[in-house]
Amino acid sequence: MAEPAASGPAQALLDFIDASPSPWHAAANVAGRLRDGGYRELDEREDWTRGSGSAFFAVRDGSSLAAVRVGEGDPVREGFRIIGAHTDSPGLRVKPGGARARGPIAAVDVEIYGGPILATFADRDLTLAGRVMVRDGDGQAARLLHLPDPVLRLPTLAIHMNRKVNEEGLRFDLQDQLPLLLSGLDGETAPEAAFRELVAGAVDVDPGAMLSFELAVADTQPGAFFGPSREFIADSQLDNLASCHAAAEALLQAPPGAGVQVVALFDHEEVGSQSFKGAEGTFLADVLQRVSESLGLSAGEYRRAIAASTLLSADMAHAFHPGYARYYDEHQRALVNGGPVLKINAKQRYATDAWTEATFARLCEAAGVTGQKYVHRNDLPCGSTIGPISAARLGVRCLDVGNPMWSMHSLRESAGTHDHAAMIRLMAAFLCMSAT
Ligand code: CO
Repeated sequence: MAEPAASGPAQALLDFIDASPSPWHAAANVAGRLRDGGYRELDEREDWTRGSGSAFFAVRDGSSLAAVRVGEGDPVREGFRIIGAHTDSPGLRVKPGGARARGPIAAVDVEIYGGPILATFADRDLTLAGRVMVRDGDGQAARLLHLPDPVLRLPTLAIHMNRKVNEEGLRFDLQDQLPLLLSGLDGETAPEAAFRELVAGAVDVDPGAMLSFELAVADTQPGAFFGPSREFIADSQLDNLASCHAAAEALLQAPPGAGVQVVALFDHEEVGSQSFKGAEGTFLADVLQRVSESLGLSAGEYRRAIAASTLLSADMAHAFHPGYARYYDEHQRALVNGGPVLKINAKQRYATDAWTEATFARLCEAAGVTGQKYVHRNDLPCGSTIGPISAARLGVRCLDVGNPMWSMHSLRESAGTHDHAAMIRLMAAFLCMSAT
């Protein structure tokens, strides 16, 4: 049985998620933790070759972050120990116009970001979070926005007018039925202007100083433990803020290793990673190259360091759900509170291979953690992670791991209290692992 003390890290995770309702908040909160831990923030426009120190991080466009701690061993021989995860979660994003009148109601137009379970956004106390671009002298600056109170709602249609909802499921017309209810119309202020006032006011600028925004629809319900022994947790964005939090904690808790320790957190995974700050972009390769330059390595030595490196791609795993047993391979399933999961897929949707599967076994031993393995059913398409993308882009071997969870891409996901502490220990062991 897992020890009761394991709820400490899980509570810290729920606090982190509740303070991180958008990828920009997630990156800012990780940056704050790193700063408190002695990490120095570097700007990608600066020269990193002089006085960067041994522990630093860079943020690209506010929502992707890479943290680095230089190791004690020979960087060419030991290479990089990289943990990768993603800061974004699927959901709804506000269209540029904000709100408009729909009959007697002001409604907020939204786009769908990634693959959320849309029904889970219905009848919940929703709010807005993200970044707002404002005028800053002759230029522009980003400000974080998080409205604490519920301001939006997606009410369902009464069952009396939707008699088959329980047989057919809760469905929405993606264009006409997703705009979110904001307010009644007062006949004085146009909904567009009222929305601009709301958003600009929340970041302390005049509406005229607001240039643009990227706003996610967020849940206002805080994270919670459930079960009589508090053995489960529920919150939004467990996929993949649980992995981001575990990676940052592991980096802060682990001693320096032989290799260069790296934690890379990317935005845009849920929409395919292809952006200038996504895992398919240049961010991580740029950071590794610049670290290598700051350590005085030649181009050839950098390639050798890459060849000695390993990537641990961390994203959540599908936990066995007893109500839906036929959706799992009964011999390859992962259990909530059963420990971190190694994800394996022959088609390389997960990047694990026999080499890194062996590494996972050794890491579990070193960390005193029980691991599990997961393989998707042959007759269901398998999801993917940043693992194969980053591994291919860098030319680094990779293992795909993640903690087991239920309701992936729901606005209210759930997982195991004890798995989070185990993942932090596993990641810390990985960061300290020597090249083999
Ligand atoms: Co994910």
